[in-house]
Amino acid sequence: MQTAKLSPSMMCADPFALRETLEEFGRGGVEYLHVDVMDGVFVPNFTLGTDYCRHLKSHSPIPLDLHLMIDAPERKLDWFPFGAGDIVSIHVESTRHLQKALAAVRERGALPFAALNPATPLCFLEPVLEDLAGVLVMTVNPGFAGQKMIPASLGKIAAVRQMLDDSGRKDAEIEVDGNVSLENARKMRQAGANIFVAGTAGLFRKDRTLAGGIEALREATK
Ligand code: DX5
Ligand code: ZN
Repeated sequence: MQTAKLSPSMMCADPFALRETLEEFGRGGVEYLHVDVMDGVFVPNFTLGTDYCRHLKSHSPIPLDLHLMIDAPERKLDWFPFGAGDIVSIHVESTRHLQKALAAVRERGALPFAALNPATPLCFLEPVLEDLAGVLVMTVNPGFAGQKMIPASLGKIAAVRQMLDDSGRKDAEIEVDGNVSLENARKMRQAGANIFVAGTAGLFRKDRTLAGGIEALREATK
């Protein structure tokens, strides 16, 4: 089983305390900064964009985990700053050119992940198993923080893990995004996930400091 990693969801972070937040993440050794990019077309919301990514890159050494919830991402990859060590997730439903998009991410030295909405079947991964470094399994419908996990998600994570292992991709990672609470994180880990997007459910909470949240999530996912 791959090492468990944390990827705090930056759309949930206090925009007026970003410097302190990034310092805390540095101290906590978080592995990625999850950036939700929404275009109001692929999902019914607008969030973080290209300039925000550039600011993160210049203020923190932590690799980016770009979650592109945008139509035709293959035409827009050049707009984003990413390279070696960064993850770029391409939604299977967002493009007619999935292989091309994944290959373009790889070409720039980054880690191409294929993202699946809750209702998207695994078979879409089959033709691109060679092209991906990991799979992002959405455990809520993308667009908003603070939703409840869709119950079928745990079975889906296990099925993706099985599919990757059976096709000689034991090295490929599984990231989960949506309602990663301490309780759900434990179950997701058991099902085979190893990268956890920490949003309002597990990390950005009034009853926990960021340091305390990181520690609790580490404990839940070890
Ligand atoms: C959902 C976003 C997530 C979200 C997860 O569209 O991709 O990153 O912020 O956080 P919570 O814990 O609020 O579900
Ligand atoms: Zn996300």
